[in-house]
Amino acid sequence: MEPYPRTWAEINFPAMAHNFRVIRNHIGPTPKIGLVCKADAYGHGLVPVGRFAARNGADWLCVASVQEGVALRDSGLDCPIMVMSPTLPVEAGQAIFYNLDVFVESSAAIHHYQATAASQDRIARLHLKVDTGLHRFGCSPDQIPALTREIQSHPNLLLAGVAQHFLNSSSNPERTKAQLNTFHQSLENLELPPLTLIHTANSAATALYPESRHSLIRVGMHAYGIDPDNLYQNQLIPVMRWFTRITSLRKVAPGETVSYNGTWKAKTPSTIATLGVGYGDGYPRALSNKSEVFLQGQTVPQVGLVCMDQIMIDVTNVPDPQIGDTVELLGENIRVPTLARAAETNSHEIVTRLMTRVNRRYVY
Ligand SMILES: Cc1ncc(COP(=O)(O)O)c(C=O)c1O
Repeated sequence: MEPYPRTWAEINFPAMAHNFRVIRNHIGPTPKIGLVCKADAYGHGLVPVGRFAARNGADWLCVASVQEGVALRDSGLDCPIMVMSPTLPVEAGQAIFYNLDVFVESSAAIHHYQATAASQDRIARLHLKVDTGLHRFGCSPDQIPALTREIQSHPNLLLAGVAQHFLNSSSNPERTKAQLNTFHQSLENLELPPLTLIHTANSAATALYPESRHSLIRVGMHAYGIDPDNLYQNQLIPVMRWFTRITSLRKVAPGETVSYNGTWKAKTPSTIATLGVGYGDGYPRALSNKSEVFLQGQTVPQVGLVCMDQIMIDVTNVPDPQIGDTVELLGENIRVPTLARAAETNSHEIVTRLMTRVNRRYVY
């Protein structure tokens, strides 16, 4: 029996190690590399990815929630982990207990972490998050001196970092440079402890703006080999390959339609293959009649509405399609950014929406 009959994603760890080497080569030896592995490591699998990355190129793991950090710690990882989104007061105790670095933006949060850390007789490691324009999370730049001083004044707190996040570093140089300038100006004349990390750069900023790299970069998508703007000139290798199989085949006469609501109509006698994947696996319904898959060395159009568990493709021009044939949904031939453009979303959403019923197969 085939171990992965319906749909599965292959996670290619040598590709990830390669991508870390490409990024390291680009940034030089100094900045630490933080792998952003929130949202189940962009759909690649939080714990397996975290374990591999921590031993093969990532100095830090960056998650969005305390829960994700705890899952990494419970898997046995003792590497540095930062929680980048706001934590709620009720999460502070767990964050400190599990030795997770957290981001804070206010005096109230600083006080709460001091009190919680003191009650555990531990040190809480805080990164001051600065809002330079995204307006999602962070103190205003002019609060940096007071809040960094405040963190340093508490016996149970350590100022582990000062951070900001870009709003559009891949395609808006003016806004990106303005954010960086704001950040740099507010750090001028500020005396920070020598080990305090300064970090601002996501994947695109890391690739494009050397001055954004500071002591740590936080890269997600480039580490997974997703490079929508080809900033690394085809050097990155996709880590995820997503497959399904042909589960049914039929002839359709001209004028007949395929799938719900009959949105696709055959113009000529056509052969339609049904595949074992649908929006219930994370294949976006928005791709209906808009995407292609890869079968027997050629791209083949997807036709009709994407169903919950199945999609249909037009295999009229494929020589001998068979039930059980493997079909690539994502990988070297069908790239994540291509699907993202067709679905009118971003690459992040395409990979993070892969459901648990898509078995992950890890290749080391
Ligand atoms: C705070 C923060 N830093 C870094 C990243 C990494 O972004 P990218 O995947 O573009 O590298 C993200 C991702 O959304 C983020 O939210």
